[in-house]
Amino acid sequence: MRTSGAVLFDSPGEWKIVDIDVEAPRQAELLVEMTAAGLCHSDDHYVRGDTVAPLPLAGGHEGAGVVVEVGPHTSGWAVGDHVVMSFLPACGRCRWCATGMQNLCDMGRFLRDGCREDGSFRMSLPGDDRNLAQMCGISTFSRHTLIDVAAAIKVPAELPLTSACLAGCGVGTGWGSAVNSAQVVPGDTVIVMGVGGIGIHAVQGASHSGASHVIAVDPVELKREMAGKVGATAAFASMPEAIEFTRSRTNGQGADSAIVCTGVLESDHVTQAFDAIRKAGTVVVTAIGHADTDITINARELTLFQKRIQGSVFGGSNPTADIPRMLDMYVNGDLLLDELVTSTYALEDINQGYKDMHAGKNIRGVITYD
Ligand SMILES: NC(=O)c1ccc[n+]([C@@H]2O[C@H](COP(=O)([O-])OP(=O)(O)OC[C@H]3O[C@@H](n4cnc5c(N)ncnc54)[C@H](O)[C@@H]3O)[C@@H](O)[C@H]2O)c1
Ligand SMILES: [Zn+2]
Ligand SMILES: [Zn+2]
Repeated sequence: MRTSGAVLFDSPGEWKIVDIDVEAPRQAELLVEMTAAGLCHSDDHYVRGDTVAPLPLAGGHEGAGVVVEVGPHTSGWAVGDHVVMSFLPACGRCRWCATGMQNLCDMGRFLRDGCREDGSFRMSLPGDDRNLAQMCGISTFSRHTLIDVAAAIKVPAELPLTSACLAGCGVGTGWGSAVNSAQVVPGDTVIVMGVGGIGIHAVQGASHSGASHVIAVDPVELKREMAGKVGATAAFASMPEAIEFTRSRTNGQGADSAIVCTGVLESDHVTQAFDAIRKAGTVVVTAIGHADTDITINARELTLFQKRIQGSVFGGSNPTADIPRMLDMYVNGDLLLDELVTSTYALEDINQGYKDMHAGKNIRGVITYD
């Protein structure tokens, strides 16, 4: 079928709305008509050239929609099913899926190239014989998209998808960074560095886990204000201020954990977070930087203070279990999502949405499809 969506042709570049041809679903695939897609910073790394992009690229990796066609012999799915897409597929069979680490599923190795397991592609551009890569295999910035069932989480039809779509990346990544990767426990002191669409959920996660001090750090006032609404107990514009405050509250020891969710990871973000934690504390690195960014930390401090640096992809969450769990929390009023969708955009205004992200105007901008 022919649809339209946001495609990146050059990196650095900008999104262009163009016609896209989408194949019919094969076995274990779903054709989905999109309802909403979140403007996560990770797509923007390709736009800005922070990371090498597979080009041309049909963007978007946070989204939700309605199934309009089901592949042959694909049990458990029907036309009309509502889905939230996980930006990481989970096969359910590999070593990682089988041991509770679905976020590391072996299917993830195809995401960098935007193809399927056999190297084939499902989208193309009319009159252009190049492969059209799918961002994380789901291309949520396209009105219709073709996804593997491994990336589809069925959700109740009454769930508002404009909010629920955040669960496919932002919530799982941020909330999980605190709950799973930092393993925040009651009484902890936690610093969240960078309170955008990811960090705001790290604040919520740390707060839910019973942290006594949830210290949000962001140069943008709106972000600090919003952090306070979802559980931050203090907020600062810079790490030096946050570190001074943290030490004043912890008898000079430092934070139990510091979670780095800045827009573009720089080495000094981790250095500051490393400085902020106590002996045997944890730095969680969730933010993504340039492909060649190395991190500099003091080796003696690492060894002798027994500090830990923990990378985190999708917050160490298991999409099949955690996306429904987080959405249940949302339905029960325990997790705020509606308030965090600060602006909605038409697909045609996607570049404006990302401009607003850079200008600090949004916690999360979301594309809504008519
Ligand atoms: N690990 C994963 O699985 C995963 C998943 C999704 C996104 N990400 C990454 O997480 C990062 C955050 O994404 P996002 O969508 O929340 O981006 P965002 O642009 O919405 O938020 C980033 C925030 O960091 C703040 N910031 C920038 N520099 C800072 C500094 N030095 N100190 C404190 N705050 C600072 C910005 O003001 C902004 O509020 C990105 O790098 C993104 O690629 C990682
Ligand atoms: Zn994302
Ligand atoms: Zn797997």
